[in-house]
Amino acid sequence: MAERPRWREDFPVRWDEDTYMTRRELAKFLTLGSGLLAGVNVLIALIGLTGKPPATPVRRLAAADEVAPGGSLLFRYPTADDPCILVRDASGRFDAFSQVCTHLSCAVVHRPEEQSLACPCHKGSFSARDGLPLAGPPTRRLPRIVVEQCGGDLVATGIEV
Ligand code: FES
Repeated sequence: MAERPRWREDFPVRWDEDTYMTRRELAKFLTLGSGLLAGVNVLIALIGLTGKPPATPVRRLAAADEVAPGGSLLFRYPTADDPCILVRDASGRFDAFSQVCTHLSCAVVHRPEEQSLACPCHKGSFSARDGLPLAGPPTRRLPRIVVEQCGGDLVATGIEV
């Protein structure tokens, strides 16, 4: 009788007990898996089509006379994680924008002498009147926060992207 090779002791595979997957089983598994993924994609697309955009809150920011002409005020809108800046030009007009630079998300600061919002990270600059990029790497405007005057108060009512 032939001696049992030593590697059989190190790798004790019992070929007769091993289970094989047939081609038919593999094809069935792939078909069911693909069908499941397609179904999940359709479900996500339907949720995206029927979902309402999140409502923006109406929030009092400050009394209008708290911001002097040429001044600015930092606030958060619509959530506590969204920094924004309200600016008042020399004529008394109010404009508000997201404070997050559209290039790489640094915080912009008000430069009243240039009527701009400057980003210190890469010398980007935006118009303090309409949020359009003026200089530097940003190519997209700052989202505008809609601000209305109710009596003597400034109230944020929405976002224009
Ligand atoms: S992050 Fe504002 S210019 Fe780059």
